[in-house]
Amino acid sequence: MSKKLYIETLGCAMNVRDSEHMIAELNEKDDYVLTTDSKEADLILINTCSVREKPVQKLFSELGVFNKSKKEGAKIGVCGCTASHLGKEIIKRAPYVNFVLGARNVSKISEVLHKDKAVEIDINYDESDFAFKDFRSSAYKAYINISIGCDKSCTFCIVPKTRGDEISIPTDLILKECQKAVESGAKELFLLGQNVNNYGRRFSGEHEKVNFTELLRRISKIEGLHRIRFTSPHPFHMDDEFLEEFASNPKICKSMHMPLQSGSSKVLKEMKRGYTKEWFLNRVEKLKSMIPDVGLSTDIIVAFPGESDEDFADTMDVVRKVGFEQIFSFKYSPRPLTEAAEFTNVVDEEIGSERLFALQELHNEILDQKVQEQLGRVYEVYFEELRADGYVAGRSDNNYLVKVKGSEELLGTLADVKITKVGRASLVGEIL
Ligand code: SAH
Ligand code: F3S
Repeated sequence: MSKKLYIETLGCAMNVRDSEHMIAELNEKDDYVLTTDSKEADLILINTCSVREKPVQKLFSELGVFNKSKKEGAKIGVCGCTASHLGKEIIKRAPYVNFVLGARNVSKISEVLHKDKAVEIDINYDESDFAFKDFRSSAYKAYINISIGCDKSCTFCIVPKTRGDEISIPTDLILKECQKAVESGAKELFLLGQNVNNYGRRFSGEHEKVNFTELLRRISKIEGLHRIRFTSPHPFHMDDEFLEEFASNPKICKSMHMPLQSGSSKVLKEMKRGYTKEWFLNRVEKLKSMIPDVGLSTDIIVAFPGESDEDFADTMDVVRKVGFEQIFSFKYSPRPLTEAAEFTNVVDEEIGSERLFALQELHNEILDQKVQEQLGRVYEVYFEELRADGYVAGRSDNNYLVKVKGSEELLGTLADVKITKVGRASLVGEIL
């Protein structure tokens, strides 16, 4: 009889794909099948995130709960970025953990499973030609890794220390994987990397030098493919060639994640982001001039060390000028192994909370106005999710979440929808 695997995935889309890899590998080599009940699992995996401190603290309390409630003899494995970062420290603090597997070592899951107390966290391990496995959590959309690691050194970010140097996955492997996903029914491909538009700077071994723009062109030629999305691009690498391809290629969804981090050029320099407020606004302007209803999302950190009232006002200014549809906002969290953790000009906790609140309030105002403007508009929606309340949900090309009354036969189809009701979280419409 098959064994049961329970897996909890925290953090970013790359973790989601890493979990898919592990599920496929464990299924193929060790006959595990997924369960949603941790109490009946023979193996419990937590795929962790370490970009902020809170989830790391939560990990140990969660491990304790799993340890108490798990089936007798069940194993527990800690994977992902916190595994890379803390390594054997995890087994020291939670001795019942059976193995620790870093974010750059996903392909070794079957190996560590059979070695009690194994700690595999080599961030130089080259997984760039790790054979892609077929497990997909969605039948309609496929996540495709195009690179691993990150070569930047943003001073706040722990990711380069947990996922290692950036290596692009060979273009022919990516194209093969895309083709396979489309043949199995996915109409949308979601390309993944920590810095996708840096694609092609470094391969492991001899490979044709293809940049991200060219990769997009080649992928878009796949027959039967309707939509391409990607995350995360870096504003520094948004050159004209890339933005023009983004605008003119009909298969590329017109929604762009533009992680701003801060609107102050001074803070951006301290963060080592490589661009200024002016460059960021210039890129947005160029995008909007080519695609008036482009959907824009961003990540913003408030209260980075040394952030003054004026610096924060610059962030608010950019947010007002751009009018992002979606903002992921965070209070700065000092992370070990990062440069900024050594900065002493720390911003007061309370000021940080006030700024976060002010930013979120401003965004709510912007969003309320934006969604009002959507009333009566028609969007092509790709339906991916059946809701319990008799609705089916999907995304517009520019990434609004749109719901219509309907049932499962809509899943995996595209249709034009007229927006009849709007809210901050989603739009409601009728199929034309
Ligand atoms: N390359 C990825 C970054 C992954 S981290 C990307 O561009 O999306 C995801 C987001 O977490 C970052 O964009 C940043 O806004 C936030 N983040 C990273 N480190 C942080 C820290 N130390 N404190 C607060 N937020 C952080
Ligand atoms: Fe982190 Fe900057 Fe890379 S945010 S993942 S170091 S682009």
